[in-house]
Amino acid sequence: MTRLLAIESSCDETSVAIVEDGRRIHANVVASQVALHARTGGIVPEVAARAHLRWMIPVLDEACRVAGVDDLRALDGIAVTQGPGLAGSLLVGISMARTLAWETGLPLVPVNHLEGHVYAAWLLDPDEAERPEPVFPLVALVVSGGHTFLVEMTDHLTYRLLGQTVDDAAGEAFDKVGRLLGLPYPGGPSIMAAAAEAVAHDRRFPRAWMGDTGDLSFSGLKTAVRRAVSRELGRDPEHDEPDGSQLPRTVVAEMAWAFQESVVDVLATRTIRAATDRGARCIVMGGGVAANRVLRDRIADGAATLGVPLIVPRPGLCTDNGAMIGAAGHRRFLAGARADESLEARPSWKLAQPAA
Ligand code: KG4
Ligand code: ZN
Repeated sequence: MTRLLAIESSCDETSVAIVEDGRRIHANVVASQVALHARTGGIVPEVAARAHLRWMIPVLDEACRVAGVDDLRALDGIAVTQGPGLAGSLLVGISMARTLAWETGLPLVPVNHLEGHVYAAWLLDPDEAERPEPVFPLVALVVSGGHTFLVEMTDHLTYRLLGQTVDDAAGEAFDKVGRLLGLPYPGGPSIMAAAAEAVAHDRRFPRAWMGDTGDLSFSGLKTAVRRAVSRELGRDPEHDEPDGSQLPRTVVAEMAWAFQESVVDVLATRTIRAATDRGARCIVMGGGVAANRVLRDRIADGAATLGVPLIVPRPGLCTDNGAMIGAAGHRRFLAGARADESLEARPSWKLAQPAA
């Protein structure tokens, strides 16, 4: 049995977890900066880094308290997000991890944040019954605020890129469209809530199928929403930066619904097609947008038709958290990944390259 301390600070959540064998969560404490960034409608990197500094030690203390760990030397290693993410934010988690590793003599295990989103599918809550692990070959959809891609895994830690966004990430599109519609930050949960209020369902925004390349694109969709908002407000759709907070609530709900449908349709169709093409025995999904109920249901329907299990973490494990770093960190730990005190952030670290 191995237990890892896991530290995540790549974006706007400060989180520390203690995870056993990459599956069982003993503690997973998350301090969210959502309220802080709501004022600016988005993340200001300096503000995020300072908030990580402010919260890192209280979050670490709370994780140890929840897991009943008085001495970190009782653990087996320290996993930390090395990238991708905001440089200043990553640095806070890495500095903490380096310091703790030096102090305790525990091995330091660098983890790719996106690998964490994939491995969240392996996690079990403290009181959750044992359930089978995802089986290979599998197809994984990662949909977060900064990244959107599909990969095939034929084994642990082995990724073949099947497709990725050529412009905005899905979460970024949710956030930008949320702002366009005058909804509170972050856009993802706001749009999901507004869409559920829609009474009429006859608006339709375009889907970018990108031929057979496997690529995804969401920036055209965002432009289509912006024009529709301008038109609705009687403004010039070509040149205007419309203020969606002027729209009637019913129209906002209809547009939120139509936007979400377009994103969900493309992501679900692409994921199911990839699983079919690759002969996947399992589909997993992670990243903040995987918290979206409509997307989860749509992919679950497709997976059921295909006769393949879908494994999606509960919403709190889809958005950024330390436990997912503990899950991926465990696999890296077993594979011998180690870093020393010179560990530095890798803000643009990619998980998978396109197949040659
Ligand atoms: O994975 P994550 O917490 O952070 C990154 O690594 O980027 O993802 C954050 C993104 C945000 O864009 C947020 O709007 C989106 O996930 N999100 C959602 C939902 N909850 C969070 N998007 C759609 N529906 C949701 N329910
Ligand atoms: Zn993330």
